[in-house]
Amino acid sequence: MKDSIRHLIQQALARLTDEGVLPAGLNPAIQVENTRDKSHGDFASNIAMMLAKPAGMKPRDLAQKLIDALPADASVSKVEIAGPGFLNFFQNSDALAARLDAALADARLAVRKAGAVQRVVIDLSSPNLAKEMHVGHLRSTIIGDAVGRVLEFLGDQVIRQNHVGDWGTQFGMLLAYLEEKPAGAESELADLEQFYRAAKQRFDESAAFAERARELVVRLQAGDAECLRLWTRFNEISLSHCQEIYDRLNVRLSPADVRGESAYNAELPGIIEALREKGLLTEDEGAQCVFLDEFKNAEDKPLPVIVQKAGGGYLYATTDLAAMRYRSTVLQADRVLYFVDQRQALHFQMAFAVARRAGFVRDDMQLEHMGFGTMNGADGRPFKTRDGGTVKLIDLLDEAEQRAYALVSEKNPELDEAELRQIARAVGVGAVKYADLSKHRTSDYRFNFELMLSFEGNTAPYLLYAYTRVASLFRKLGKGMDEIGGQIRLHAEQEQALAAKLAQFGEVLNGVGDKGEPHLLCSYLYDLAGLFSSFYENCPVLAADDPAVRDSRLRLAALTGRTLRQGLELLGLEPLERM
Ligand code: ARG
Repeated sequence: MKDSIRHLIQQALARLTDEGVLPAGLNPAIQVENTRDKSHGDFASNIAMMLAKPAGMKPRDLAQKLIDALPADASVSKVEIAGPGFLNFFQNSDALAARLDAALADARLAVRKAGAVQRVVIDLSSPNLAKEMHVGHLRSTIIGDAVGRVLEFLGDQVIRQNHVGDWGTQFGMLLAYLEEKPAGAESELADLEQFYRAAKQRFDESAAFAERARELVVRLQAGDAECLRLWTRFNEISLSHCQEIYDRLNVRLSPADVRGESAYNAELPGIIEALREKGLLTEDEGAQCVFLDEFKNAEDKPLPVIVQKAGGGYLYATTDLAAMRYRSTVLQADRVLYFVDQRQALHFQMAFAVARRAGFVRDDMQLEHMGFGTMNGADGRPFKTRDGGTVKLIDLLDEAEQRAYALVSEKNPELDEAELRQIARAVGVGAVKYADLSKHRTSDYRFNFELMLSFEGNTAPYLLYAYTRVASLFRKLGKGMDEIGGQIRLHAEQEQALAAKLAQFGEVLNGVGDKGEPHLLCSYLYDLAGLFSSFYENCPVLAADDPAVRDSRLRLAALTGRTLRQGLELLGLEPLERM
């Protein structure tokens, strides 16, 4: 709807330009916003205020001229001038109702991508292997997954890339530790976390051990068969732990999406060569660097991207350059989104700049770092266990499920054990995910079990429950949400407000896809659930006397139910029929 209003304004501007009211050559970005207060219409534009100066007119006078020049449109019932010169558009209820009827008849709820369909690579999760996943990997995994789902729903072709850290120096340490242990120690790898910690302790306390660890990395990188065999084993175990978590989190990631750092090993010498040929390499204290003028340190000296260490080893940035080239040339991506901690922002800015300068990526391929803030504990400090250790993701999910189980079984003592467990799983894991997704991506946030499991406020339990209310209405009726005949007709104020919100679903999803911000969808669903509640309280549905009114309201409820359900699924939550 906003797009069609923008289009109407454009036509009015063209007309006023032809008539000489507006100077030629203006090409303003036309802004159209949803209004908060529906008594002021549904959409507002500040275009008259923006153009008053170049037109040499008072904003309200220009607004009037624009209104006179607007072509008639069936979906707009009237346009008014408000305040200093806003144009307020009222949407026509019949046209709105017809749009919702069309959405109800469509499996995709009439959602379309606003721009061209693209092939999008999503770099997500990407933990460092040889350790278990900890809470720091949660955000990348679930935000990346949600944005991926939304883009897929909009029609994009999404390629997920789990760029795991499988080639670091940590492996030397693990190999050295394994070597020290008596035969049979390989079986201890099942508890990788424990194994890693023990190895790290040896590394920190013994210089000889550390030296041996470094030797073993060199051997591994030189292709020593035994080192490679053990390295493969570490990775297999580590990845199987990750997969367990992905499944538990209901995240769409599989072993086929893993393309770790080691996959680019063979490319790295070629990356250095290509940079050299382009004249981009500078040697600095034996290391190979690319200096970029646009990145300077506090003393105004250019910052280097180091691509090869003095000893010949390659770095994180080198691998990222190879990965960008692969995504551009082999995967043929139009767009690559990196869901990685905000603290790596400079790394990505610089790596993107080097890749462009070196011609590793096509000019028309978009590279976007979708950074995110830190998840803190309830005290606002970095999230830690009681004894100060890092929190394992699996323990966090266990606790969430236990808490949800206690909550749900108290509310519904009559449910049988199996169903309670299933509900607790959806609510517990859903609460952890939703609490994260509903915050602005770039802000830090406090992890708090009590708040995320509350049935009030913008939480998973509240939304899952809102969906069950709609589901139970249809259960009572004995019909599915897509089995209601008739037509939507909008009369009551609460029907109008609910309908206007329902019509925004596609626009919200496009926003999530463009900006990589799932919180926009969370806020939308929360508002939608609230508007449904007031509609449900004020407009009798099953008890409506007039069958046409009853059908219309049932259809509104059905579209609300399907929108909530689709929205929750796009966030990676599991909608429940009852709870
Ligand atoms: N393994 C890295 C880390 O844990 C994240 C990798 C992100 N992706 C990338 N292409 N650099 O910090």
